[in-house]
Amino acid sequence: MASIWREKNVGIVPRAQLQGEFETEAAVIGGGLTGILTAYRLQEQGIKTCVLEADAVGSGTTGGSTGKITAQHGLIYAKLIHDFGRAQAREYARQNSAAVEAYARLIEKEGIACDFARCSAYVYSRDGMAALREEAEAAKRLGIDAVLAEVTKLPFQVDGALCFPEQARFDPLAFTRALAACAERMGATIFEKTRVTGLEDMRIFAAQGTVKAKHIVFACHYPIVNIPGYYFLRMSQQRSFAVALRGVPSLSGVYIDQQQGGLSFRSARFGEEDVLILAAYDVRSGKNTVGGKYRELLSAARKLYPDCELVAQWSEQDCRTVDEVPYIGRYSAETPNWYVATGFNKWGITNAMVAAGRLSSLIMGEAAEEEESIYNPARFKLLPSMKNLAGDAGNALAGFAKAAFSIPAEKLTTLPRGEGSIVEHAGEKYAVYRDEAGETHVLPSRCPHLGCRLEWNPDDRTWECPCHGSRFGIDGEILSEPAVHGLAQEKDNACADQLIK
Ligand code: FES
Repeated sequence: MASIWREKNVGIVPRAQLQGEFETEAAVIGGGLTGILTAYRLQEQGIKTCVLEADAVGSGTTGGSTGKITAQHGLIYAKLIHDFGRAQAREYARQNSAAVEAYARLIEKEGIACDFARCSAYVYSRDGMAALREEAEAAKRLGIDAVLAEVTKLPFQVDGALCFPEQARFDPLAFTRALAACAERMGATIFEKTRVTGLEDMRIFAAQGTVKAKHIVFACHYPIVNIPGYYFLRMSQQRSFAVALRGVPSLSGVYIDQQQGGLSFRSARFGEEDVLILAAYDVRSGKNTVGGKYRELLSAARKLYPDCELVAQWSEQDCRTVDEVPYIGRYSAETPNWYVATGFNKWGITNAMVAAGRLSSLIMGEAAEEEESIYNPARFKLLPSMKNLAGDAGNALAGFAKAAFSIPAEKLTTLPRGEGSIVEHAGEKYAVYRDEAGETHVLPSRCPHLGCRLEWNPDDRTWECPCHGSRFGIDGEILSEPAVHGLAQEKDNACADQLIK
């Protein structure tokens, strides 16, 4: 099932693919929320911009987001003050708070119909009030209006909640598609079904053509160039799961558990009815090998709302940086006219707006020097709270070296229909999926990005890379970067044919 935004936004006429040579001032790789906002801002300043989107505008992470427009990013501000100091924490708070207002202004100015509504955002706790009190104090020190509440409209008892008033929610896909049309009206060119496969200095290569640009923005979720930049050493990807339910009382606020991976709630309009989006989990990509996440989420929903009915279910992948702050700025010291926005740590709505403002200012030569910014992609210091670093590096290394669980080829017929597994044949390992009709789909088991062994995700029926989160469909088509090629292109047909026999 697709997300409710994707279900609501069907029937869009596809745009043209890039064909041949194209020249422009700025090229944005990625037509999600960040890429389209950046293209809009650049075009607004008179910079001739094109967008290269691998699939369709908003079809990636944007279409799977919960659409909360808020500067409340879980419990983050006490940690930011602790790790980065008050000045940089204030920059993050100020820019993300300003982003909420920027959405309101932009939606009004362009008359965008995207179910935008003001609401309060809450972090709730069922584990005492200490962390909420600390966060409330930190938020206030940074100039954010933050209020502690004792009760909420949630269907269970909480110890309390931290409220940020005057936040908002919307349909992120309807917004992105409408803004893309506005950018085009101002002169931007958007190519769809145009996956970037490589770059050479200021030239971008796709299967059907090339783009030459004076400025290149990587807004493609995960940066696709490994060196320079080395983002693959300092970012991982995580998958969360969502269900949309009817027959549930509407909530005016948006809510998230203070515990990472706990339940998140928001109501949304879907056709003629209100539905509740319930989301949870932070599973590292390639680690959901047992599956059952949708079943667990639905079971949790039915305990809270016995009469609820499933409308849609979907999952989405987010990039996480080691210090949990996005990288927004110049791609690397060696590439002064390449720019990047990535690692939004699940809070991509306001950070996309921050990125669009920051990157367009850099390109216009208006931004202050980057070194002092909390978003500076070149930053690297060991922070007291950088507990994820060892885990992230360890996961990547384990993925490289991994002798993944595999079954011998003779046992292939024991693989249940609808399941995938790594299968060993003549000393080689293959990623094998057996479809509902019993047909076998054989692919290489190594990720084309940097060679880690893939893992099967039974919930979404995809192959996922535990190192940096590339994803592939059952026939090897690429679903998520940083890999830029699918798996089928690497298929050793001779071996695969033998295996199927
Ligand atoms: Fe990097 Fe697979 S995503 S090795």
